[in-house]
Amino acid sequence: MMLVGVFGNPVEHSRSPEIHQAFAEQVGLEIEYRKILVPLDEFNKTADAFLNEGALGFNITVPFKSDAFNYCSVRSKEAELAGAVNTIIKLTDGTIKGHNTDGLGLVNDIIKNMRWILEGKRILILGAGGAVQGIIGSLLTECPRHIHIYNRTLSKARALVDSFTSENVLAIDKDGLQSDYDVIISGTSAGLTGNVGDDLPAFIVGPSTKAYDLIYSTSLTPFLRWAKDSGAVECVDGLGMLVEQAAFAFEIWTNKQVVTTNVINKLRDS
Ligand code: ATR
Repeated sequence: MMLVGVFGNPVEHSRSPEIHQAFAEQVGLEIEYRKILVPLDEFNKTADAFLNEGALGFNITVPFKSDAFNYCSVRSKEAELAGAVNTIIKLTDGTIKGHNTDGLGLVNDIIKNMRWILEGKRILILGAGGAVQGIIGSLLTECPRHIHIYNRTLSKARALVDSFTSENVLAIDKDGLQSDYDVIISGTSAGLTGNVGDDLPAFIVGPSTKAYDLIYSTSLTPFLRWAKDSGAVECVDGLGMLVEQAAFAFEIWTNKQVVTTNVINKLRDS
């Protein structure tokens, strides 16, 4: 039986076990997927112990994605760009390899599930933290016209933009915000406190603007509520991204591709 899991703190809320069990059933594999609450200063110790127990690998969630980055001896291109690792695999020769499937998962959800087009489009991203760093590289592969990064702290947006070579990624202040973006993606951690949007001008949303929140929630997130009230044509949360990033992780471990739509629908309904 394949042993895998998710490292986090907190981790109790994680929906990854049910997602991976659904994938495993789909391809006829038996897996044990554990939720592992990792003490804040014990990432390496916990990772060593889990892999020594025979685990093939594991997912990593908040706040350990940069610990995971440092733990790996080899990393995928996406992980290098993101500066963070969310999926680890122990290869047959013992090498610990780190991947980042967050950006791939977001793009797959946007393109494949939502059927939004990013090529040539004007994208605005809100926030400049780890979550945003993890998605920019993958968004760029879709060749948008530009990606504007708007953050409460402009210097952080500037530092983030400097880590990408593309001239199409720009840090902007409030005066630089344009009207009617094609796509606005919220990647701030403010969503749960309910005050997102308060200082955003409504003109950034036009009648064909699509809004995406990396956070998922049973009700409309504060950002999506604001976007909807401002006239956005479609508002989507990050549940699809969660399932799509998991599908990439599952493929890394098993070499098997899964169908995600029914898993996303099942999670939405439950
Ligand atoms: P994560 O790993 O989830 O991205 P992070 O690296 O701590 O978390 O980044 C959080 C992001 O949310 C930052 O861009 C932060 O803005 P600052 O750089 O100004 O701190 C943003 N954020 C958090 N709370 C916010 C709020 N109340 N309003 C606007 N932005 C907020």
